[in-house]
Amino acid sequence: MDKLLVRGGIPLQGETRASGSKNSSLPILAATLLASKPVQLDNLPHLRDVTTMLELLADLGARISVDEKLGVTVDTDSVSNLRAPYDLVRKMRASFLVLGPLLARYGRVEVSLPGGCAIGTRPVDQHLKALELMGATINIANGYVIATCQKGLEGAHVEMDVVTVGGTQNALMAATLARGTTVIENAALEPEVVELATCLRQMGADIVGEGTNTVTVNGCGQLGGCSYRVKPDRIEVGTYLIAAAATQGRICIHDACPEILVAVLAKLEEFGHQVQVSESTISLDATTTASRATNIRTEAYPGVPTDLQAQFMALNCVSHGYSRITETIFENRFMHVQELVRLGADVRLKDARTALVKGVAELRGAPVMATDLRASSSLLIGALVAEGETAINRIYHIDRGYERIEEKLGRLGADIRRVQG
Ligand code: EPZ
Repeated sequence: MDKLLVRGGIPLQGETRASGSKNSSLPILAATLLASKPVQLDNLPHLRDVTTMLELLADLGARISVDEKLGVTVDTDSVSNLRAPYDLVRKMRASFLVLGPLLARYGRVEVSLPGGCAIGTRPVDQHLKALELMGATINIANGYVIATCQKGLEGAHVEMDVVTVGGTQNALMAATLARGTTVIENAALEPEVVELATCLRQMGADIVGEGTNTVTVNGCGQLGGCSYRVKPDRIEVGTYLIAAAATQGRICIHDACPEILVAVLAKLEEFGHQVQVSESTISLDATTTASRATNIRTEAYPGVPTDLQAQFMALNCVSHGYSRITETIFENRFMHVQELVRLGADVRLKDARTALVKGVAELRGAPVMATDLRASSSLLIGALVAEGETAINRIYHIDRGYERIEEKLGRLGADIRRVQG
C-alpha cells in the first residue's frame, strides 16, 4: 500500500492552481443519468472518487468517452441496469446520488445502503423521505433500497428535517423529471447544490432559489444534453491555504473561488495572516506573523465547512495559545486527533463534538495513519510542519479528494514523496 514520506519544516512558497471540485463533480456525474442526450464535462478532477462514479455509470450501462483535453462525455441513453451494487457504494457514499435520477427517469432503482462511515452514522432518511413525498414506494431488503414509482414522480412539498447536502441534491435531481412543482424547504445552501442546479438548468431544468433555503423545481418531461465546466474545489483551496499558514509560507492559488470561501478567509485573517483576493486568485502570506490560536466552529454553508475542520485543527496545533474546535455537522469527526498527538500535538477531546488544543512550539515526525479524507490532509499539514520525517500510511484516503497532491506540494517546495510498501 502506498504511503507518503514527508520531511517537514519547509515553508510552502509559490503558485499553484485549484483543481475542479470533487463534491460538485460527483452529483453532476449522477445528474447525467437524467439527460437524454450526451453531457460533456470539463475540469473534472482526476481523483479516485470521480473514477468510482464513472465506473458506476459505466456499470449502469452509460457510454463514457474522454477527449484529448481530458474532457469527459457521458451518454446515459444506453443505461439498462438499474442497480448500484454494494461493492461500488461502499467504496464511495456519493454513489447514493444515483438514486433520485434513476428513479425519476426509469421508475425503478435499487441502490445499496451506504452504511456508516469513519466520520459518523450518516443516515439517508431525508433522501428517502423526499422521494416518498414525491410518490415513490420504498422498500429496504438485503441491504438495498428498492424504490419504484410506476406512474412517475409527482411534484411535492418537501421539508427537510435536517440540512443535508446530498439529500437536497437527490431531491433536486428527482424533481427535475417529476410531474408538477416541487418545493424543497430547509434546503442546503452549499455551493455544490448551486452548481448542480446550474448544470441541471443547462440541461433544460426549471429551477429557482438554489443557494437559499427554498428551492423550487418545475418538473419537465425530459432533459437534454449540455456542456459544463466544473468550478474550483473550495476545500482543496482551503487546505492549501491552511498548509501555507501552518508552515509560515506564502502562496498564491489561481483558478480559486474566493467568493465561496469568505468564512474560511476571514478565519485565516483571524489567525493573523494576510489574505489577498483578486478575481479568481487568492494569496496568503504567513511569513511575517506567527499564527494565533483561533476557535473553530463548523457550520453549514456559509459557515466554516466541516471538511476543513481537521486542517484548521492542525494549524491550531502549531499556533500560539489555546483554541476550541467544535464540530457541529458530524458526530465522529475527530479521528485525526490521536494521530496529530503522535506528531507531538497537544489536543484533548472534551466531548464527542469538542476538542481543546494547546499550541506547541514544534511537531516531530512520526509514522501516522490516515483514517478518512480530510483527517489525512490534517496529518499532511502536521507532517509539513514537523521536524524530521513523517510517514503517512493509508493514503488512498488522500487520493480520493486531492489531485496530484505530492506534485502540487512539491512545486510549492515541500519535501514529499510517495513510496510503496
Ligand atoms: C456532503 O456529504 C459532502 N460529500 C461531505 O464531504 C461534507 O462533509 C458534507 O456534505 C457536509 O458539508 C459530498 O458532497 C460527496 P450531509 P453529505 O447529508 O451530503 C445528516 C468530504 O470530505 N443527515 O449534508 O453526505 C448527516 O448524518 C465529504 O469531501 C441525516 O441525518 O452530508 C450529517 O450529520 C465528507 N439524514 C448531516 O446531516 C440524511 O438523510 C449533514 O450531512 C442525510 C444527512
